[in-house]
Amino acid sequence: MVDSHQPLKKFSWRCPSNIAIVKYWGKKGNQIPCNASLSMSLTHSFSEVTLELFDKKSKEDVELNYFFEGKKNPLFEDRLRKYLKEQKADFPFVKDQAVTIHSHNSFPHSAGIASSASAFGALALSLSEAALTYFTKEKDFLQNASRLARLGSGSACRSVYPRFALWGKIKNVPASSDQFAIPVTTIHNNFKNLQDAILIIDNKPKKVSSTVGHSLMKNHPFAKKRFAQANDRASRLLQILANGDLQEFISITESEALTLHAMMLTSDNYYILMKPGTLLAIEKIMSFRRETQIPVCFTLDAGPNVHVLYPESDKKAVNEFLNSNFKKGIKEILFDKLGNGPQKLKC
Ligand code: DP6
Repeated sequence: MVDSHQPLKKFSWRCPSNIAIVKYWGKKGNQIPCNASLSMSLTHSFSEVTLELFDKKSKEDVELNYFFEGKKNPLFEDRLRKYLKEQKADFPFVKDQAVTIHSHNSFPHSAGIASSASAFGALALSLSEAALTYFTKEKDFLQNASRLARLGSGSACRSVYPRFALWGKIKNVPASSDQFAIPVTTIHNNFKNLQDAILIIDNKPKKVSSTVGHSLMKNHPFAKKRFAQANDRASRLLQILANGDLQEFISITESEALTLHAMMLTSDNYYILMKPGTLLAIEKIMSFRRETQIPVCFTLDAGPNVHVLYPESDKKAVNEFLNSNFKKGIKEILFDKLGNGPQKLKC
C-alpha cells in the first residue's frame, strides 16, 4: 500500500541573504529593475526550503501548503500561490501535483533582516530543480533559478550565486541582464573574505515596505540621474572588486547607502527609515576609520540597521571596536561574512 503522507518527490535548498553595495531602488514592468545593482552574498544569514510533491487531491490550479518555521503562513502562501500561477510555464508539475513547502530562516524573525531575498532564492532553486525533468532543452540552472527568484523578489535573483552578483543590463558587460543576475568572478584578495557585522538598531516591522519605496521612484524628481549614477557605479564597482581598491570601495559603498535613503527623504511622499541609532553608528564608524586608517565602512538596506563591512585582516580590531561600542544601546550584532552561495541539501 502506498503511504499517502510520503511525498512522491522532495527537494531542499539553503540560500543565503545578500546585501547590495550598489542598490536596486525602482522597478518597472514585470520586476525589471530601473538600474543595475551589485551585492555580496552572506554566509550565516540564510533560508532553507523543503519542497514536497504529492498526488493532487483537488481540482485547484495550484494546490499549495506553505509552512514557515513549522506554522501555516496564509499571507505568504497566497503570495506564493499567485507566483506559481503566474509562472506555471516554468513549473509544469504544479498542474498535476500538490505542493507542500516548509521554510525557515537561520536568523531570528525579529532581527530586522530582509528575508525575501534568501526565501525566494531557496524557493526558486527548489522549484527549478523539481521542474528539471520536464524540460529537454538544457538551461543554465543557476541563471534560470535567478530569473525565477527575481520574479518573486528582485533582490533574490542575486542570492543564487556565491560571493558577488550583478543584476541589470549595463553597457560594458555584455552578459549582464535585467532578467537575471550574473556572478562576478574577478575578485581581488582584499574582498575575498569581506566581513559583514550587522548592527540591529531596531527590529520592528518597517513603516514603509520596499514595494512602496520602489513605486515612489516612478515620479521621483531625481530618478533619471539616480538610475544613471547607479549604472555607472555598478561598472566602477566591478573594476574595484577586480583591482582591490579599498578606498574607492568605501566611497561607493557609503554613498550608495546614503543615496538610497536620500531617495526616500526626497520622494513626494517622503519618509525616514533611519533611526537616531543609525546615525550614531555611522558617525562612530567614520571616526573609527579616520583614527585607525582601518578600511571599514557601512551600508544600509531599506531600514535602520547598519551593515559594517571590513576585510578579514582587520577582523580582530573591528570586532573589538564593535563589541565595546555597540554592546549597549542596540538590539544585537550579527557577525556575518561573504558567502559561497546556495547549497543543495540532502532530504
Ligand atoms: C533596498 O528586492 O525587497 O534592499 O523586488 O519588491 O521584492 P521587491 O524588492 P526588494 O528590494 C530590495 C531593495 C534594497 C536594495 C537591494 O537589495 O538592492
